[in-house]
Amino acid sequence: MTRPYHLLAIETSCDETSAAVVRNGREVLSNIVSSQIDTHRRFGGVVPEIASRKHVESITVILEEAVTKAGISLDDVDAVAVTQGPGLVGALLVGVVAAKSLALALDVPLIGTHHIAGHIYANRLIGEIEYPALALVVSGGHTELVLLEREGKFRIVGRTRDDAVGEAYDKVARALSFPYPGGPHVDRLAQSAEQEIELPRAWLEADSYDFSFSGLKSAVLAEINRWKMKGEEPAYGALAKGFQASVIDVVTTKAMRAAAEFGVRQMLLCGGVAANKGLRSRLSELCAKAGLPLLIPPLSLCSDNAAMIAAAADLKWRRGEFTPLDMQAEPQLSLERWSVAT
Ligand code: KG4
Ligand code: ZN
Repeated sequence: MTRPYHLLAIETSCDETSAAVVRNGREVLSNIVSSQIDTHRRFGGVVPEIASRKHVESITVILEEAVTKAGISLDDVDAVAVTQGPGLVGALLVGVVAAKSLALALDVPLIGTHHIAGHIYANRLIGEIEYPALALVVSGGHTELVLLEREGKFRIVGRTRDDAVGEAYDKVARALSFPYPGGPHVDRLAQSAEQEIELPRAWLEADSYDFSFSGLKSAVLAEINRWKMKGEEPAYGALAKGFQASVIDVVTTKAMRAAAEFGVRQMLLCGGVAANKGLRSRLSELCAKAGLPLLIPPLSLCSDNAAMIAAAADLKWRRGEFTPLDMQAEPQLSLERWSVAT
């Protein structure tokens, strides 16, 4: 029997400080996440300088906790993985410096990892991925349809031309007076509302897999202003329901069309907005109807966490594709270029 291997992973690309230990690429021994949401909430969004400072304050404790909870010692760590990008440069830097120091001190390889590859491969922590697969990535900073022709090979077939889905949710939530991050609040309100206000869908060109959400966001804001000008109380519930219906209709329709065109064997949903109840159930329904297997991570693996970074880093670990110790944090790191070489 071959000896088990352990990847120690770090994620600090935005407002979560996280460290995880994953055994044999798929078995999560620990996944510690310290969220800064309470700190950023009063500013209505993530303040980059504060995020970096908070990462510095917590990274050592979080790393220690991850190793202790995993029940291993640092000598058992076979490689250190870290989010290299995309993300806030000052935030990424904290994780990158910690990872380099650890890799150097333990004399093990370093694996610079792509944040979105992490969201996608979070699915490998819960099931077997069948290729070709299509990933619908919906997060606070990204909205993309990613085709995986084979393991570790990423091709972006559609992306947002303006706001990411999560960003649109957060902006709409703010207009409805919800605290940051507002996505879950809008989701809940949309689920409980009975009435729905019909809002536009941005389909773009007939054959396009790209997305656009800024027009929809503006439509919500215009509706609220119209009511306020008339001195009426806005029908927030009906508006949230209409907004959610428009988003879900567009992203799921495009995902299903792309799945059919590329003949994929599996659909993967991922990113922070994959926590959305309406989206999870609609995509499940459509995939079931089309006979297409679907994987969706549990909520704890949808939002930013380090276990997903280990899951993506495992692609490179198994191929011996390591990252030099002089690597830099890359706020605009390309997913396609991060694909495996072999
Ligand atoms: O992936 P993530 O944790 O961070 C990024 O990498 O961007 O995604 C965070 C985003 C936020 O915009 C948040 O409002 C949104 O995910 N979100 C939701 C829900 N839960 C989180 N959006 C809609 N419905 C939800 N239930
Ligand atoms: Zn993320």
